[in-house]
Amino acid sequence: MSRQHSVTFTVQPGGRLEGRVRIPGDKSISHRFVIFASLAEGASEASGFLEGKDTIATADAFRALGVSMEGPREGALRIEGAGLHGLCSPPAPLDMGNSGTAMRLLAGVLSGQRFDTTLTGDASLSTRPMARITDPLRAMGARIDASPDGTPPLKIHAAGAALRAIDYAIPVASAQVKSCLLLAGLYADGVTSVTEPAPTRDHTERMFGAFGLPLATGERRIRVSGGGTLRATRVEVPGDISSAAFFMVGASIAEGSDLLLENVGINPTRVGVINILTAMGADIDIQNRREAGCEPLADIRVRGTRLKGIEVPEPLVPLAIDEFPALFIAAACARGETRVSGARELRVKESDRIAVMAEGLQALGIAADPTPDGMRIAGGRLGGGRVNSRGDHRIAMAFAMAGLAGEERIDIDDCANVDTSYPGFVDAARSAGLDISVVRGQ
Ligand code: S3P
Repeated sequence: MSRQHSVTFTVQPGGRLEGRVRIPGDKSISHRFVIFASLAEGASEASGFLEGKDTIATADAFRALGVSMEGPREGALRIEGAGLHGLCSPPAPLDMGNSGTAMRLLAGVLSGQRFDTTLTGDASLSTRPMARITDPLRAMGARIDASPDGTPPLKIHAAGAALRAIDYAIPVASAQVKSCLLLAGLYADGVTSVTEPAPTRDHTERMFGAFGLPLATGERRIRVSGGGTLRATRVEVPGDISSAAFFMVGASIAEGSDLLLENVGINPTRVGVINILTAMGADIDIQNRREAGCEPLADIRVRGTRLKGIEVPEPLVPLAIDEFPALFIAAACARGETRVSGARELRVKESDRIAVMAEGLQALGIAADPTPDGMRIAGGRLGGGRVNSRGDHRIAMAFAMAGLAGEERIDIDDCANVDTSYPGFVDAARSAGLDISVVRGQ
């Protein structure tokens, strides 16, 4: 759906980032708002909702499931909740586009419905592993067909009765798996309990609380009782720290930069990128801390400095999992070597982010050595050249920022999917000082 036209970014070398950038809404929280508001009793409203292709796919899916909505328009979205049991059979398969979050979280909800649904996705999503959700959902009694290798499409059969509550230890650190099972738990008979191997983003747990069903949480163990009622509410969606990360790295690597990123979510389960950049010597100042409903946010000032390579502590990996494309660019510009391990999950994101980032960095003259679960990068001089983002939005934006420290022009192919998470990226980057232009082809 998002690949009809080829999009190439061309970035001229040098420059610095200055002024203010207002960061668009958090993608994870926007998806969850649509899901919770659709299942709630009453009308919910969001402000700051991300109008990216991924979150629009989630909204369109719930429209097809019979939920009525106004918007999104300039970040405002109003949803008339259908209640836990008010969804209707959709007329056609639900296309989740590029979004793993949409597919995995919806699979949890749809496993508990009394009608069949099919979830499809684009070429990238169609290769992503789904056994991590279909195995535990089947243990709950869900009937789901996937491709023989465990990938989409997913055909979810009507549930004949309530799902069975399970007590499940999730083998991979994944907020999507956790969230899928907690949502399925709403349709289960009894208390569903999930234990994570390491802390991951907790927006789902916070959303349950905001919609009037606080969850019991203990040491990495979260429990939900089936059959509760979600109550409509208002949600202010903070800016996405994952989108802010490109600007944090850009400002850090470009000498003389002084940039204020406004309205950024600083949930403790998402701030790994700040901690890692700070350990690399970045000059990051968190200002104006405040709360927006169930999430903390702040403005973040970043100034250019000389970064140094580090060994990234493994416990920080799940807390910065989406920020590694940007962090690898920071490492390429740092003095000394950076080592990342314990990040095997990067191989099954929108692309294989270890392979694609290593290939792109090497094309720009950086010694990047991929390992099965991470990368070793020797900081050096970033040359120019042509890299391919392989349709991965975060890789496209990361290499765009590399231009600030590049010595020659960088062309980045296959960038159309930037619209999945950050539709205004090019304009925002240009207004802050990046010399970026866009070439669209057929
Ligand atoms: C997300 C969880 C993460 C992250 C993704 C969004 C979420 O995926 O990479 O971009 O909204 O729950 P995993 O749960 O697969 O780690």
